[in-house]
Amino acid sequence: MSLLDALKWRYAVKKMNGQPVEQEKVDQIIQAALLAPTSSGLQPFKVIVVTNQELKEKIAPIAYGQAQVIDSSHLLVFAAQENYTEEGIDAVFNRMNTERGLPLDATDAYKTQLKGMILSRSAEENFNHAARQAYIAFGIAIAEAALLKVDSTPMEVLTALR
Ligand SMILES: Cc1cc2nc3c(=O)[nH]c(=O)nc-3n(C[C@H](O)[C@H](O)[C@H](O)COP(=O)(O)O)c2cc1C
Repeated sequence: MSLLDALKWRYAVKKMNGQPVEQEKVDQIIQAALLAPTSSGLQPFKVIVVTNQELKEKIAPIAYGQAQVIDSSHLLVFAAQENYTEEGIDAVFNRMNTERGLPLDATDAYKTQLKGMILSRSAEENFNHAARQAYIAFGIAIAEAALLKVDSTPMEVLTALR
């Protein structure tokens, strides 16, 4: 199926069909999310997979009690980072350079410039930046779900999940 055909098939599901989504498909959806482009590759979010019924019931009220949260087999939470830290940025570049077989200092000039920009911004600006990156991944994930014919409902929650 082409992406366009999958997107024509997709809609925001209001009532789940009670069939659990196969783990293999969930894994593919998460992998698609993690392959999404993000600003400087920072990936400033976590994808949390909630299958525990009790936990889904606890989360439901902040999603206005919508039944899909409780009735879904998998609730994927795209949680944006509240802010960036120097250590976090270092960790991303160390991992990236290691995976590419480059010396750890290969991207130092770029990293210094990036830190100067990001760490001088307010926490609110950085949270909004992180949330935009999470949305890119979320969009890719929902498209992959459609390609796999997995029902989904996008939802937005601005409350911190603590
Ligand atoms: C950020 C975001 C939040 C949304 N929140 C909800 C929601 O809380 N409940 C719901 O049923 N649909 C939600 N939707 C789905 C939209 O209402 C839906 O995508 C839109 O009406 C178009 O319909 P379709 O996706 O079925 O084509 C949300 C979509 C987005 C992108």
